[in-house]
Amino acid sequence: MKYKFLLLMINMSAALLLHLVAAQHEDIPYQHVTNICETCTCLSAQDSNHRLHQTLNCAMKNFQHILARWPSEFGTDHRGMEIVASYSGNNIRLLQQLPATRAVLTLSCRHCGMQQLQAPLFMDVPNVEGLYLSWNEIGDDALKPELFRGPFNTTKYEPIALKDLELSHNRISRLDRKLFEHTPQLRKLALAHNRLSVLDAATTAALASITSLQRLDLSHNGLLTLPAELFSHLGNLQFLDVSGNEFALVPASIQQLGKSLLQLNLAGNPLPKIGAESFRNLVALRRLNISELPMLRSIEQGALQLPALEQLDCARNPKLERLEFNNLLHSRNLTQLDISQNALSSLSPNVSEDANSTSSWPRLKKFAIAGNRWYCSCDLFKALEHAGAPQVLQSLDAVARCETPYLLAGMPLTNLTSEQICNMVIPKKYRAVEDDPPRFLRRRYIILTVIIASIVVVAGLIIGFVVVCVRRRLKGNDFGVQPIRYTSVRGSNLSAFSQLQPVSVTSKFNNAAAAAKTGAPNA
Ligand SMILES: *[C@@H]1O[C@H](CO)[C@@H](O)[C@H](O)[C@H]1NC(C)=O
Ligand SMILES: *[C@@H]1O[C@H](CO)[C@@H](O)[C@H](O)[C@H]1NC(C)=O
Ligand SMILES: *[C@@H]1O[C@H](CO)[C@@H](O)[C@H](O)[C@H]1NC(C)=O
Ligand SMILES: *[C@@H]1O[C@H](CO)[C@@H](O)[C@H](O)[C@H]1NC(C)=O
Ligand SMILES: *[C@@H]1O[C@H](CO)[C@@H](O)[C@H](O)[C@H]1NC(C)=O
Ligand SMILES: *[C@@H]1O[C@H](CO)[C@@H](O)[C@H](O)[C@H]1NC(C)=O
Repeated sequence: MKYKFLLLMINMSAALLLHLVAAQHEDIPYQHVTNICETCTCLSAQDSNHRLHQTLNCAMKNFQHILARWPSEFGTDHRGMEIVASYSGNNIRLLQQLPATRAVLTLSCRHCGMQQLQAPLFMDVPNVEGLYLSWNEIGDDALKPELFRGPFNTTKYEPIALKDLELSHNRISRLDRKLFEHTPQLRKLALAHNRLSVLDAATTAALASITSLQRLDLSHNGLLTLPAELFSHLGNLQFLDVSGNEFALVPASIQQLGKSLLQLNLAGNPLPKIGAESFRNLVALRRLNISELPMLRSIEQGALQLPALEQLDCARNPKLERLEFNNLLHSRNLTQLDISQNALSSLSPNVSEDANSTSSWPRLKKFAIAGNRWYCSCDLFKALEHAGAPQVLQSLDAVARCETPYLLAGMPLTNLTSEQICNMVIPKKYRAVEDDPPRFLRRRYIILTVIIASIVVVAGLIIGFVVVCVRRRLKGNDFGVQPIRYTSVRGSNLSAFSQLQPVSVTSKFNNAAAAAKTGAPNA
């Protein structure tokens, strides 16, 4: 009797186990394949630690569902095994619950046209570590917290081991506040090319809850800013990609990542300037990408004082005319510097003051400067040589050329040395270009104005003097003309007026009349 009962129990548990291994949701069919490893590709490899790595490649098989079970070739006990499964390029609209396994699982289903995910996905796959679902049609409703629920254990759901989640190129505009409550080990999250233009309170809370996060990709979402609450608990974040968004200011919240952040990508944002405080506190930052900023005109003094910086990508900023080269001298570990395709004409003229006989960047290996409007001055060449040119100058694809002075226009920078330039005597007719034209012109203009003004004043004085002299002389000759005196018609007395005329005038008129009389016959 007892024996029979035990047998029954064993049978039941075996059935239960089988049931678990097989699909749980029989209402929705799984992909039917009789011999999995003939339809898909199965690969098995063992590493040096005798760990089995199984690969199941079902990419582009025109499947509509995932498989209900793992290939029998993988054995029955998957413990200590790693499975990499790919269903990419199929037409799987609904991702169903995964067949049970204790193996460490990485699953990809990119380009699957996926819209729905069945919750919970990983009830029987607690060791899932990677889930790659980019290039699908996943919207907000598809992402529920229950999705990532692990196995139920007495009172609660166990967390799953998910470390790497890729949801780029989908249709996500917001996240559930509790979406990541079952994934405490999540390290990498990619949400690039979605619709997260505004991170609302729930979305911010969801992201802020992933305290283990090391890499976050929020690029190409139309983001206007990053909320202050986003990073306050993300003390492990090392890589942040916010390129291709709509930032008009470098989000101040980035400063909260001071101790941890190693890489920051801000490329492709409409930033008009990078303020002095933009990267304050980022003492660990090693790589910074501020390329392809179409509006960027200035990087303020002090903005690029980043002690740990190793790689700066500041290229293809068509309006950038000034770069505080001096600030970069603080980055002793700099190995790669790309300032090509900007509108730079000089490097900060102060560079030679700080310059030491030893290079500021002993590790610099690559230095790209092509595609700028270089004004080939002595200062520029001193700065370049200080940086380690020409050894570090990258001249593989594009050649850096002088644009000014006229004498050197078009000359590759690598053909010139500071010795040549600093000792070069520029002929007088080219020298005007070298001086600061507005100032020079202004001085000349002022001098000219002063000269003209003094000529005018002197001429005025002379004319005035001459006029006075002439008047004096006329008066002396008794040829002065009395000013006309107006009198009112009522009070006027014409006879009295004629009587009032000075004698000299009347006598002169009489004389003139007499002269006319006498002169008439002569004429
Ligand atoms: C279930 O929970 C208990 C106590 O929290 C824990 O000791 C045990 O390892 C858990 N079991 C599994 C399978 O995770
Ligand atoms: C910087 O960003 C631009 C634009 O996204 C990209 O083309 C470039 O490769 C990036 N540079 C580095 C070093 O990652
Ligand atoms: C420069 O690099 C060295 C070795 O990689 C490292 O020990 C040092 O801390 C770095 N300097 C800064 C300022 O980060
Ligand atoms: C040169 O550097 C000093 C401080 O080191 C600064 O005050 C000055 O403005 C700089 N001049 C130019 C032209 O950048
Ligand atoms: C030059 O560098 C040495 C160490 O490399 C330093 O002690 C010295 O102060 C520097 N001189 C100047 C003028 O910066
Ligand atoms: C620059 O130097 C190279 C090799 O030294 C030479 O072939 C080239 O003609 C030079 N270019 C100019 C414009 O002087």
